[in-house]
Amino acid sequence: MDRIKISGGRPLNGTIPISGAKNAALPLMIASLLTSDQLTLKNVPNLADVNLLARILRNHGVDHSVDGKRAGPTPHLGETFHFTARDIVDTTAPYEMVSRMRASFWVLGPLLARMGETRVSLPGGCAIGTRPVDLHLMGLKALGAEIDIDGGYVMARAPNGLKGGRITFAKVSVGATHNVLMAACLAKGESVIENAACEPEVGDVAECLVKMGARIEGIGTPTLRIEGRDRLEGATHTVLPDRIETGTFAFAVAATGGDIVLEGARKPLVEAALAALERTGVSVTEVEGGIRVSRNGSAIEPIDRIETQPFPGFPTDLQAQLMALVTMARGTSTIRETIFENRFMHVQELARLGADIQLQGDTATVRGVKRLRGAQVMATDLRASVSLVIAALMAEGETTINRVYHLDRGFERLEAKLARCGAQIERVTG
Ligand code: EPZ
Repeated sequence: MDRIKISGGRPLNGTIPISGAKNAALPLMIASLLTSDQLTLKNVPNLADVNLLARILRNHGVDHSVDGKRAGPTPHLGETFHFTARDIVDTTAPYEMVSRMRASFWVLGPLLARMGETRVSLPGGCAIGTRPVDLHLMGLKALGAEIDIDGGYVMARAPNGLKGGRITFAKVSVGATHNVLMAACLAKGESVIENAACEPEVGDVAECLVKMGARIEGIGTPTLRIEGRDRLEGATHTVLPDRIETGTFAFAVAATGGDIVLEGARKPLVEAALAALERTGVSVTEVEGGIRVSRNGSAIEPIDRIETQPFPGFPTDLQAQLMALVTMARGTSTIRETIFENRFMHVQELARLGADIQLQGDTATVRGVKRLRGAQVMATDLRASVSLVIAALMAEGETTINRVYHLDRGFERLEAKLARCGAQIERVTG
């Protein structure tokens, strides 16, 4: 298993290109199941999760190629992918696949809508919480699906096709919104989704669906109105920039000091995170083609209270990175996690570097320390792993981060992007 070694204490200076968003690319790829025509996606990041989902979709009969060539092992940074689901050859998404990547559960709605039946494994628990799928199932039932659970699988049927319905989600769910939105595009009649997720990735998928011929009103708002169509067509769509990668590198430069331009980043996608960053004393400015983040010499100010919230609130996917930053603030910060019940696995690893963090229920109290010291640490999930990278960049001496495959799932060329800005970081293959 690969490891990453970081020698901390160096500022970051230069430019970092922001990749296409993983959490938009994945559902966009799944949207290819809705049409027999070709869906072309540009700016797809080269990530383990993207490659795994492409393999999963191939099992269903989705043919894919990269930039006119057959997909292969060659790196395809920010590449153009073509997906064609001319014939769905298998409507089952097996446990071996869904348990490796939760987002593949989102094939449920599109396969059901297009084929009238599907069998998708329940994803099971994960490192950040129990993550039930009741909202997905409730939403699809409201569109007329008959759903049973058997042998760990969701068996969904709609022999006469899905029908428009009204869905009010009790809780904001990105995945349930994707699933039900995609299904509603092929249902008969009008559907209304209330309390839909407003995350930019949901908007990106909805924009792509519109290009495919879907009729959707209210994109970017909590109320989505969908007029179902008999069929959707092919389209070409460019994946929006990754706001979590943007926030992560912004937090990294805040942690190390220095001056970085995040190329291609869009400020409206990361307002809450950048506002938090400014509270810590970091300068953030919009520049042509990106965002500039700098901290030169000033101390990191603590954040008295911040809580994760659905968009446009502070994202749960940046909670661990913020926590890493304030481990060295001059004072005490409190961070409350409201989205996932168990998303604090990084706390014990940050403690190994010398951080002083107390957990009580859903709230972490972080007392700033004068220094962190390098150590061996273990990554537990994607965002937790990258918080350890940020802490390691601040720490004195060398840190080794084990189980790097978590990082490869969601950060494209992380070491290269940081190294070219002055970080001492290397991957040890083994
Ligand atoms: C998406 O997960 C993202 N994944 C997550 O990013 C992100 O943390 C999360 O949204 C919240 O923003 C992708 O886009 C691939 P949810 P998702 O359904 O859709 C509860 C990363 O690191 N819930 O919005 O699975 C759920 O337990 C990942 O990139 C139900 O109760 O998240 C959670 O508490 C991690 N019932 C809350 O809703 C349901 O049926 C929000 O989850 C569904 C969800």
